[in-house]
Amino acid sequence: MVGAVENKVAIVTGGAMGIGRSVAIKLAEEGAKVVIVDIDADALHKTETDITAHGNIAKGVKADIRDVQEIRRIVDMTVSEFGRIDILVNVAGVMKSLPFLEISVEEWNRVIDVNLRGTFFFIQACAAQMISQIPQEFRNRDRSERSFGKIVNFSSISGRRGRAVQAHYAATKAGVISLTQSAALAFAQYNINVNAVAPSVVLTPMWEKNSQDKSKIFGISADKASVEFIERIPLKRPGTGLDMAEAVLFLCSSKADYITGQTLNVDGGFEMN
Ligand SMILES: NC(=O)c1ccc[n+]([C@@H]2O[C@H](COP(=O)([O-])OP(=O)(O)OC[C@H]3O[C@@H](n4cnc5c(N)ncnc54)[C@H](O)[C@@H]3O)[C@@H](O)[C@H]2O)c1
Repeated sequence: MVGAVENKVAIVTGGAMGIGRSVAIKLAEEGAKVVIVDIDADALHKTETDITAHGNIAKGVKADIRDVQEIRRIVDMTVSEFGRIDILVNVAGVMKSLPFLEISVEEWNRVIDVNLRGTFFFIQACAAQMISQIPQEFRNRDRSERSFGKIVNFSSISGRRGRAVQAHYAATKAGVISLTQSAALAFAQYNINVNAVAPSVVLTPMWEKNSQDKSKIFGISADKASVEFIERIPLKRPGTGLDMAEAVLFLCSSKADYITGQTLNVDGGFEMN
């Protein structure tokens, strides 16, 4: 059977753990050659070997996405190893719940640099590569029905409205929605689709840490903090990595060639705009 992204070359940031791991596995199962970028070397190695053990293609690259030189190195390495870049999925992100008055300059910079700066410069480097790959015969045409690249970013329901104890994180996730729209407009002329996914709750290492942070802030157990939030989701369950990966796969497939600039809530109905 031919996969939905057969022979495409994909980069997935934050692909060692959590949602990014599910995305990397899904794209590889559907035929893509996947370069996984992550700062955590051990988790990265595990995800890479779990994928290749099933006969699928993955290469792990340890890097901090805050480093723009590293981003350029990864793009060059991907092109020299796999020939091209068709898909970029920006999943890497960091979050910390903290009262508004307690967010330090260092903490502000850390969250902005990973979630916004890393995402922006990965889009810039990969879009330039995707544009350079457009076959000559399509260069002077007004429009093609074919897509010449897919970019998917990770926002959050926290990007849809403010958060009293995650002001910096929420600002970055609202920023990702804006960046997605700007990139979609900038690259529409090249038929490169840029969209985002906004999850509510997925039980990953990030969610676990977040529940612990909230437990400290609100003086309740981490379990209670998590359960209370999940109760507010209309579908009454957390999302799974697979829920996120299926949405990403759709947005990266030819079925989504006419979708761009959108942020898709994959959140059990938490937000409805
Ligand atoms: N889990 C949720 O409930 C939830 C909800 C809404 C949005 N999101 C978003 O989804 C994305 C994935 O979240 P997750 O829950 O899987 O997080 P996670 O913390 O479980 O995994 C994030 C991955 O990114 C990597 N990473 C972090 N900083 C990095 C850096 N500087 N350079 C390279 N890699 C780095 C981590 O090592 C890790 O493998 C994030 O952007 C997050 O904001 C998650």
